[in-house]
Amino acid sequence: MRETVIANARRSYEAAFAVPPRWITCTPGRVNLIGEHTDYNDGFVLPLAIDRHLAVAAGPTTSTMAEWRSDDFDDLLRLNFSIENSPIPGHWANHALGVLTLLQRRFGPVPPFNLHVCSEIPVGAGLSSSAALEVSIATLLEQIIGRVLDPLEKATLCQKAEHEFAGTPCGLMDQLAVTMGRVDHAMLIDCRSNHLQYVSLPSPSEVALLLIDTGVRRSLAEGSYSERRRCCHETAASMGLKSLRDATPQLVERSTLDAAQRKIALHVVAENMRTVLAAEALIRNDLAEVGRLMFASHDSLRDLFEVSWPEADMLVRTARKIGPRGGIFGARMTGGGFGGCVIALCRTEVLPEIERDLQIAFTAEFDRPCGISTVNAVDA
Ligand code: GLA
Repeated sequence: MRETVIANARRSYEAAFAVPPRWITCTPGRVNLIGEHTDYNDGFVLPLAIDRHLAVAAGPTTSTMAEWRSDDFDDLLRLNFSIENSPIPGHWANHALGVLTLLQRRFGPVPPFNLHVCSEIPVGAGLSSSAALEVSIATLLEQIIGRVLDPLEKATLCQKAEHEFAGTPCGLMDQLAVTMGRVDHAMLIDCRSNHLQYVSLPSPSEVALLLIDTGVRRSLAEGSYSERRRCCHETAASMGLKSLRDATPQLVERSTLDAAQRKIALHVVAENMRTVLAAEALIRNDLAEVGRLMFASHDSLRDLFEVSWPEADMLVRTARKIGPRGGIFGARMTGGGFGGCVIALCRTEVLPEIERDLQIAFTAEFDRPCGISTVNAVDA
């Protein structure tokens, strides 16, 4: 809960630095309903900010060495504040350091501050803990320097920090979702124009969004994400297109792509269509159609884009067996892939039975439980 994370950040800061923090900022994580690996192809995504938060408590320091700490990691960062900073290989604080550095390049030096990060967004679970940290730091810096950035500009600065300091060439979806999320709504984002349309979600008393954590963790920087992104760009270039957003099934059929490129292109083309259709279906409250599109998205991420993992495949298979008659409209992996979570759109009245059946099936196959909870759309 937001209040709990904020209280924990305050308490941890006081325990570490023996004074209360001067500033506290808090940012949600996100799930993506549909539209995976489309953002960096100028395509469509449909994420929502969720009720899992990360909070940053900070205060000024007169010491030349500021200390940045996190509840999630043992290695604290001792930082000699300067305008230019280099990333520290493998360090959790790179996301924060990147935002500080990029912001200082624009607005000049920021006085040194100590920092403590508390989070209920698991790291590497596909819920955008990195974007939440970046945006929380950007909000903190806005308060410290007394300026408010335009939300798109803020999200873009955080994305650049992720590229330059964390080494992940991500799209803009995560940073936009956790900057601009709205309670009870998902956001249909056109990642070419960055035009954003809020799409109302069904009432949680009738339809629940179930978050199933497979417990498998991935690191986006490990290479597979960058590799997919590079392949998308090469494929678009070899089709003579600016990006795969401009591809159509007919163009893919007619081009001389190799087998791997063809699969990648077919995923992106169909996923863009599915995302727009899913937003339209949500608007007319056609949950059966949203669910069908979610299942199709997962199949495509498994068979064509090849970023799903066995635990997610198994959960989606089980969800499909339960199906709309058993209360599951659709399910799919969410986020970059190779680990993390599955989301399922479910009828709220049968949630206990659904949770039980998924848990029994998962435990039988993997000999350990998965994490099951519901998530709601919140304001960023
Ligand atoms: C990660 C990236 C996003 C997006 C997704 C896949 O979450 O940060 O930009 O590319 O993967 O849809």
